[in-house]
Amino acid sequence: MNNFNIQNLIRENIKNMQPYSSARDEFKDFNKEMIFLDANENPNENGVNRYPDPQQKTVKLALSEIKRVPENKILLGNGSDEVLDLLFRAFCEPNRDNVITLPPTYGMYGVLANLNAIENREVLLNENFEPQIDKILASVDQNTKMIFLCSPNNPTGNSFSDESIVTLLKNFNGIVVLDEAYIDFSAKESWLSEISDYPNLVITQTLSKAYGMAGIRLGILYGSVEIITVLNKIKPPYNVNVLTQSKALQYIESQETVKNQVEEIKNQRNLIYGELLNTNIVKEIYRTDANFILCKVDDANKRYNQLLEKGIVIRNRTNDALCENCLRITIGTEVENQKFISVLKVLDKS
Ligand SMILES: Cc1ncc(COP(=O)(O)O)c(C=O)c1O
Repeated sequence: MNNFNIQNLIRENIKNMQPYSSARDEFKDFNKEMIFLDANENPNENGVNRYPDPQQKTVKLALSEIKRVPENKILLGNGSDEVLDLLFRAFCEPNRDNVITLPPTYGMYGVLANLNAIENREVLLNENFEPQIDKILASVDQNTKMIFLCSPNNPTGNSFSDESIVTLLKNFNGIVVLDEAYIDFSAKESWLSEISDYPNLVITQTLSKAYGMAGIRLGILYGSVEIITVLNKIKPPYNVNVLTQSKALQYIESQETVKNQVEEIKNQRNLIYGELLNTNIVKEIYRTDANFILCKVDDANKRYNQLLEKGIVIRNRTNDALCENCLRITIGTEVENQKFISVLKVLDKS
């Protein structure tokens, strides 16, 4: 990398703003027996009558031990969507800056770009669903603040090559956001250990997939202390609620369950993969490192509707770039998967 300097990326108004100082920010020592008359809360104990810890220290500590990343390089948010939005707000000047996304990919990057009045420069993946590095770098100008890489990628399921990721990290002076929402299902290692080597690398993960907690909304962003400091300054003070923090802690600590469930999902993924290959409906199945399979079928709209009629909801991706006639199937429980396969086999024969 040439001359990455985070100070050059931060929006002027963010550099100059004073963050909101909440009551719970001012008094940080929660372990002491104190009388809290500072936050205008209802004093009657019911488990949720107090504001949550704005810095979510216990959750970060647990994550830090499991992921081997220092707590001051972790930011938590109300789902990945919130931490991704904070990146836009911190680093992208509305109506001036741009970001690069690589369709077909997770739709929220484009939605957040729109929401924040940021140009979204789309550079399609190639036919193997790999980033086209030369085209991406050719699209960069002095207002390009972030490149979004989703690996394993949604909806295609593949992980990007290490060479592609390293080349972008080394040749782009903005922030490379690597979305690892599906990393636990991948044979590839996470890039978390590389955060110290690449100051422009930001990694997002989530408890919504392998950890089985989509309902509590907990997104995680890992990055340099400088980046985390800026994001902490602008995040809503109590963005992760008490219930989410306590539930997250409980599950993060049951690593064995998470590991077993991931293994089971991967086994089921192999089974479905094999079954899909045996049908005439399915024309091509793409290699996947995630908890879903993308496949090309004879007629995506028709098959999607037929499955829906039988009570099975999958995702029709036929309108996504490079995904004509493609369906995306999430791996369910063994019973759900068997039902899906048996319905598909009936459709195959009719
Ligand atoms: C690539 C990717 N990133 C992030 C998310 C959303 O994560 P969260 O539930 O933490 O907002 C999804 C959800 O499907 C996703 O596919």
